[in-house]
Amino acid sequence: MASLSEKTVLIKETIFEGKRFVLQKVEIDGKIYLLKTAKPWQQVEHLLRNEYQIGKRLEHIPDVRKVHALFHYQGKLALLLEYVPWKPLQSYIEKPWDIEPFLTFAIQIAKVLHQVHEAQVCHKDINPTNILYNPEQQRLKLIDFSISTYLGEGLHLHGVQDRIEGTYAYMAPEQTGRLYRMVDYRADLYSLGVVFYQLLTGSLPFEVDNPELIIYAHLSQIPLSPKEKNEEVPEVLSEIVMKLLAKAPEDRYQTALGLLNDLKKCLQQWKKSRSIEPFPLGALDKRGQLDVPSITQYYPEFQERLTTWLTRDKASTSVFYLHLPEGIPAQPFIDQVYTAAIGHKITPFVIRCDTHQRPLAPFNLAFERFLQQLLSGAEETLQRWKEKFLEHLQGFIPYLQHSVPSLAKVITEPIETPTKQETETEAIQDAYYNLIRFFQEEQGELLFILYPAEQLEPYSIKFLLRLLQDERLKKVL
Ligand SMILES: Nc1ncnc2c1ncn2[C@@H]1O[C@H](COP(=O)(O)OP(=O)(O)O)[C@@H](O)[C@H]1O
Ligand SMILES: [Mg+2]
Repeated sequence: MASLSEKTVLIKETIFEGKRFVLQKVEIDGKIYLLKTAKPWQQVEHLLRNEYQIGKRLEHIPDVRKVHALFHYQGKLALLLEYVPWKPLQSYIEKPWDIEPFLTFAIQIAKVLHQVHEAQVCHKDINPTNILYNPEQQRLKLIDFSISTYLGEGLHLHGVQDRIEGTYAYMAPEQTGRLYRMVDYRADLYSLGVVFYQLLTGSLPFEVDNPELIIYAHLSQIPLSPKEKNEEVPEVLSEIVMKLLAKAPEDRYQTALGLLNDLKKCLQQWKKSRSIEPFPLGALDKRGQLDVPSITQYYPEFQERLTTWLTRDKASTSVFYLHLPEGIPAQPFIDQVYTAAIGHKITPFVIRCDTHQRPLAPFNLAFERFLQQLLSGAEETLQRWKEKFLEHLQGFIPYLQHSVPSLAKVITEPIETPTKQETETEAIQDAYYNLIRFFQEEQGELLFILYPAEQLEPYSIKFLLRLLQDERLKKVL
């Protein structure tokens, strides 16, 4: 649609002006569209490109906002979208909804989400500003695929990106970047759970407005159930929402289709008798490729042993060793340990021992991941960390700048290299040792999850022994 740039674009009105984009109602060749462009100084053209590409994949879904073209307009990249004369759901959420319109809405959004997931797209930003709604016709459109991902090429590890994506109040625990977990379709189901919660109760599950506190709540607080907040909500419906809000993706609905099926049952019953009899949830919730072997199946007392160990009286460092027979995947166990650690306010580091590019690479990678998350906040937070790093890690900064790129992003100025160390590896070891002591002071207890432990390279083994024998590292588990 290159020729578009020469056509007359008549600006009718500005519909929305956000932090990053401006959305304008425009007329081209007598037809009405919506034009989405980046605001000045915002480096977000890649998001427009992404939204265009994802939009093209979803063209066949009627209740998804259509993308028409990506073109240059007045020297800027512009995305031409379908104009929908409806307001966002955000405008209708002050009061709890009645059960019937709620179920009608819930069924529609579950259906759209199922279609989107079938096309292997994870939306990643389900929230009431990204759903347009028409209350008279009881119809909706799902919009804003700017940060969505096509998962056909494999899963995405969260926390590896530069910034946390999504809207805090609606963000699944694994999307916060604090869990070493893949983000998949089930993250959308969590966000949808928050939207449902809001529609049924008129309030959010976690009513705090500081991002840090919200993230903490998503990770470790259980909200009051919708029924506890609003007694009009039928018990089953309340359970459905709580199932969507489960912390661990494997405890949620696994598919939008499974959810859709349960919601349909609810509506049928409600229409007949104005009540909903309890029924087992998730009868048609097929796990398919997302299936993970259950931990209890292999190791029934795992949870209990882990909790005892994490909550023990900590006089020194200690090791929790887990041997898994051949063929049993480690990931579910790692996820459990990770989540449990966070629940006990312990900072976990996952150390992949099968990385061998250079000495200490496993630790290197773990610190890099951790710092990426730590340094993904606002400008002032970054500045605070920078000052702390400079104060506590003075002589070691050059080595860390060299091996942990995220740190180099915050401390850009060159710092003179001290020359006392014998070899580069030894210097890096010392630098890492001090970094760990610094983390311990800042974060409290630290936990290193090493796997597959038997493949740890020699330099890392030496380093680990040093950590284990060090009297000053009481808080490293
Ligand atoms: N097709 C549309 N018709 C009418 N209003 C829209 C349309 N698309 C978006 N809007 C309004 O603009 C807001 C932002 O649009 P969105 O595409 O989500 O941009 P952003 O990426 O900035 O969140 C929406 O919350 C809604 O209020
Ligand atoms: Mg939006």
